[in-house]
This record gives sequence, structure tokens and C-alpha cells, in this order.
Amino acid sequence: MAVKEVLRMGHPLLKSIAKPVTEFNSSLLDNLITDMLDTMAAFDGAGLAAPQIAVSQRVVIFGIAHNPRYPEAEAIDMTVLINPEILIIGNEIQSSWEGCLSIPNMRGLVPRNTQIKYSGYDQNGDKFEVHATDFHARVVMHEVDHLDGILYPERIENLKDFGFEDQLFQEQV
Ligand code: NI
Repeated sequence: MAVKEVLRMGHPLLKSIAKPVTEFNSSLLDNLITDMLDTMAAFDGAGLAAPQIAVSQRVVIFGIAHNPRYPEAEAIDMTVLINPEILIIGNEIQSSWEGCLSIPNMRGLVPRNTQIKYSGYDQNGDKFEVHATDFHARVVMHEVDHLDGILYPERIENLKDFGFEDQLFQEQV
């Protein structure tokens, strides 16, 4: 299919609640997922939500083998997650740096729960459930936030921990 333009922070679709997918095994859904996979690969992302390519549907994808944007991160199998639901487990919270293809070149320190269970449907409409921790849990929560019109800067506790990547992490001299 195609690499799509990624909407950037400020666009109304990134502030909107996306609609549930109601039909599986449709060419519309299959083409959307192919576009999302192509776009995420082209921009070297760890995840992408359908609203980021201007489609208001509750579809997210994520996965990394080894991503140069997240050198410390564990590998996550490429996953298509549709109509997701998240169950928070426990109350442990950790802060870690996040980026987003809709907010290029910036990073923010975001506190999130470290343990979740998420469920939803795969591309064929089969339901599945996964227990996820740490980076894996963080990626899923970040992507599912997109479906609810939330971008990570809204979750930053101290806006001093938000800025341009090359300025935040420059070598101290
Ligand atoms: Ni994002």
C-alpha cells in the first residue's frame, strides 16, 4: 500500500475519540493496517495509531526488533491490536522518556503504570489477551491513548521534562 503522512500535534483528529472497528476481514481494514505498517516502518516508529494517519478507527500497531530510537528497549513482537482494552495491574508507576511520530524530534518524561493486561482483536477478528510490563506496557498505553485523543505531553508531570531530543540529551561539557 503506501506510506502515509503522519498528522502532527494540533490536528483535531489527534484530539478525538476514535470509533470502534465493527467489521473484520474487510479490504478497508486490511488496507488500513498495511498503510500503518508501511508508515511506521518508514518513520522508524515503535508504534502507530490509526488517527495518526487520519483514520478515526480504534486500531493500533506496535513492535520493535531493535529500534535505534529506543536502544535500551526490549524487543516486542509486531502486534496489530483492534478495539483495545487495558486493565491496570497493581500501582507501581515509573517515569520514562517517550517520543511520538506526531511530535517529531521531541521527548518527554512520562509516568505510567508498569504492569497491565491488554485485550482486543487481531486483524482476523480473533480476541487475544496479553500481560505486559515496563516498555511493552508503556508502548501499548501510549498507543491506546491516541485512540482517546490523548498525546503524551498531557501526561508529563513537569513540563521542564519536555523538549527537543538534541537539547535534552546533549553531552554535558
Ligand atoms: Ni504516539
